[in-house]
Amino acid sequence: MSDRPRLTTSSGAPIASNQNSKTVGRDGPVLLEDYQLIEKLAHQNRERIPERIVHAKGWGAYGTLRVTEDVSKYTRAKVLQPGTETPLLARFSTVAGEQGAADAERDVRGFSLKFYTEEGNWDLVGNNTPVFFVADPLKFPDFIHTQKRHPKTNMRSATAMWDFWSLCPESLHQVTILMSDRGLPQTPMHMNGYGSHTFSLWNDAGERYWVKFHFKTRQGHKHFTNDEAVEVIGKSRETYQEALFGTIEAGGTPAWDMFIQVMPEMEAKDFQAKTGWSAFDLTKVWPHDMYPLIKVGEFELNRNAENYFSEIEQSAFNPSNVVPGIGFSPDKMLQGRLFSYPDAHRYRIGTHYDSLPVNKPKSEVNHYHRDGTMPFGLKTNPDAYYEPNSFGGPVEDPSVAEPPHRYEGEVDRYEYRSEADHFSQPRALFQMFDEGEKSRLFGNIATAMTGVPEFIVERQLALFDQVDPAYGAGVREALTHAKTENAGVDTSHAAE
Ligand code: NDP
Ligand code: HEM
Repeated sequence: MSDRPRLTTSSGAPIASNQNSKTVGRDGPVLLEDYQLIEKLAHQNRERIPERIVHAKGWGAYGTLRVTEDVSKYTRAKVLQPGTETPLLARFSTVAGEQGAADAERDVRGFSLKFYTEEGNWDLVGNNTPVFFVADPLKFPDFIHTQKRHPKTNMRSATAMWDFWSLCPESLHQVTILMSDRGLPQTPMHMNGYGSHTFSLWNDAGERYWVKFHFKTRQGHKHFTNDEAVEVIGKSRETYQEALFGTIEAGGTPAWDMFIQVMPEMEAKDFQAKTGWSAFDLTKVWPHDMYPLIKVGEFELNRNAENYFSEIEQSAFNPSNVVPGIGFSPDKMLQGRLFSYPDAHRYRIGTHYDSLPVNKPKSEVNHYHRDGTMPFGLKTNPDAYYEPNSFGGPVEDPSVAEPPHRYEGEVDRYEYRSEADHFSQPRALFQMFDEGEKSRLFGNIATAMTGVPEFIVERQLALFDQVDPAYGAGVREALTHAKTENAGVDTSHAAE
């Protein structure tokens, strides 16, 4: 017997042989009583859990948030007080591809942060873009269907994507970012992160401020062109994992600076009156000259997970995980997400997903939820299993009550502001691009439109024209080149 640990069944019984099944005679059939074999095969059949419905392919690591500045006048959140250091888990992802997809694909990137604060977990589940394609959660499942596989061809459909985008002009801003250089970062370390939504901060005096969160990469922005990505993917499909895991394994500590934009609660109406944009519209940014970036601190990544499945795959990021001092806003998309994520986690992982080590808060957890799958570490006080009780069970703490939100209005299904200006923010972005960036934008769009029916292309071009005539004209010209190059090749993925 060596000094290595003894192999056992999952119920702890020592195992004599892990190489040979139990058979009737040397060449005879295997016995059903070989419980070791049955356990091993049965376990293997259950090794996969459903992948995330979106953002299935991901890369993550642990790190630390350090608050270097004083933003305490805006928030009482302990995690945001000057000098505080908080452990965190980051998970980056692509949106559309499945778990086996190549990393270097053109797509929006997820940018999720879980801060293990002393008052519970705070999750910021953002993207590498400050805006999104749609502004109403009712549109989200349809949008995602256009990014996933066509039900008949089982291939991605460019037709579906451009059909949807051209019918939802609010997507123009995000489409422009996606098709620009920043739509294909070289690694997760070379991109910014944004909370994207408007959230809120509230302080001890009960004052609320609307807030947007920004994380700027210290590694600089680095992107692949489409052609470079083809080469990269030809050599490796796992380039993000190699880069992030490899950097941290070699002692590197990729870092981001954290900023906020802050809007006093009552200013949201003025912002709307001045700009025509709602402060809660996820397809819009708050211009920096109106709401400058305020530095909060920095975070670095410094430790890889020991087990990818249990720490990265089973991590559960949830926009409704906030802590006292941080709150929501009326942003409809955010409101939809507050329901969607914990619902997804209960289905994908199990009822007590928050009890798994990676999701478990580092602060004390006391609740009265009972039973269900994976109830690890539920506290036992056999008589205090309901609330209120007279037997010493946990009680509420009114000192953490959030100030009330001030809402008014008539309940209705309001159309997305038909008068909304979908064009000036993409225009500001387009006009920031240099000639090279513009030309790559046109080329990327033309490539992405390959095989899309003419009437959809025309509808989308009319939208680009409204952003800037040079935008529409540039894409038209790139499409002419693309048509010459693709002559005779049927690349349509659509089943029209
Ligand atoms: P600013 O000039 O103050 O800010 C421009 C922002 O754009 C910076 O955050 C910069 O990020 C980012 N940016 C720079 N180059 C590119 C690029 N090639 N692709 C994508 N983003 C880039 O102007 P405004 O605040 O008035 O915003 C103008 C436009 O910039 C917006 O309409 C929006 O499209 C885009 N933008 C605005 C942001 C905001 O929160 N206001 C955030 C990100 C983009 P960095 O400093 O990291 O390079
Ligand atoms: C993942 C729903 C919009 C960023 C997910 C998941 C669901 C979901 C169900 C899978 C969760 C899981 O299984 O763990 C929605 C809905 C949206 C929406 C209903 C709109 C109403 C957004 C927006 C952003 C975003 C606007 C970014 C600003 C992410 C990220 C992940 C994710 C980063 C991966 C989280 C991780 O790393 O585990 N989304 N989403 N989503 N979503 Fe969304």
